[in-house]
Amino acid sequence: MKTIKIAPSILSANFSKMGEEVISLQECGADVVHCDVMDGVFVNNITFGIKMVEDLRKITTLPLDCHLMIVHPEKYVERFAKAGADIITVHYEACQDNLKEVLQLIKSTGVKCGAVINPDTPVEKIKDVIPMCDMVLVMSVFPGFGGQKFIPSALDKLRQIRAIIDELDKDIDLEIDGGVTAENVAEIKAAGANVIVAGSTVFKAEDRANIIATLKA
Ligand code: DX5
Ligand code: ZN
Repeated sequence: MKTIKIAPSILSANFSKMGEEVISLQECGADVVHCDVMDGVFVNNITFGIKMVEDLRKITTLPLDCHLMIVHPEKYVERFAKAGADIITVHYEACQDNLKEVLQLIKSTGVKCGAVINPDTPVEKIKDVIPMCDMVLVMSVFPGFGGQKFIPSALDKLRQIRAIIDELDKDIDLEIDGGVTAENVAEIKAAGANVIVAGSTVFKAEDRANIIATLKA
């Protein structure tokens, strides 16, 4: 069993205090900072970009997991890498035919790479690129907003991808993103996810260290 890592999504943070929020996450036991980059085109929301990653890099030692929900991610990969991203994940739905090339481009910058699938995209679509990924991300909500309800069909996808990873016998992380709560985290981990993104669950909690520990346990 791979180590469980908790990756709070700063989409639910107070953007006017982002530095303090990220320092607090680190102090409260988070393993990774999940950075949701949205362009208002690939998804119906706009968040932040390269400058945020660059500035966060200066104030935290936690890995920065950059989830790009943008069209033409290949245009920005090198700048996110230079800004200090530790891993960059890109959507199958944003790349399709050039997903392999985009993942290769990410790798060429020295940063880890990952492929993401939306709730209505079957595992089959990314099967060929899984061996070259450092992480695979299964969306359990349609991307764009925090605080949505977990879509249960993601569990079956986690099981399918975990079986593929086990077969490959490679060190590939499996991340879940969307609607994770203290109530459903056990079945998510049992289905094979080892990197757990949680936005609203972490930021709404009164005791941040406690909820992070609960999600990890
Ligand atoms: C959704 C984002 C998620 C989101 C998760 O588009 O990719 O990372 O912030 O938020 P919760 O945990 O509230 O569903
Ligand atoms: Zn995300």
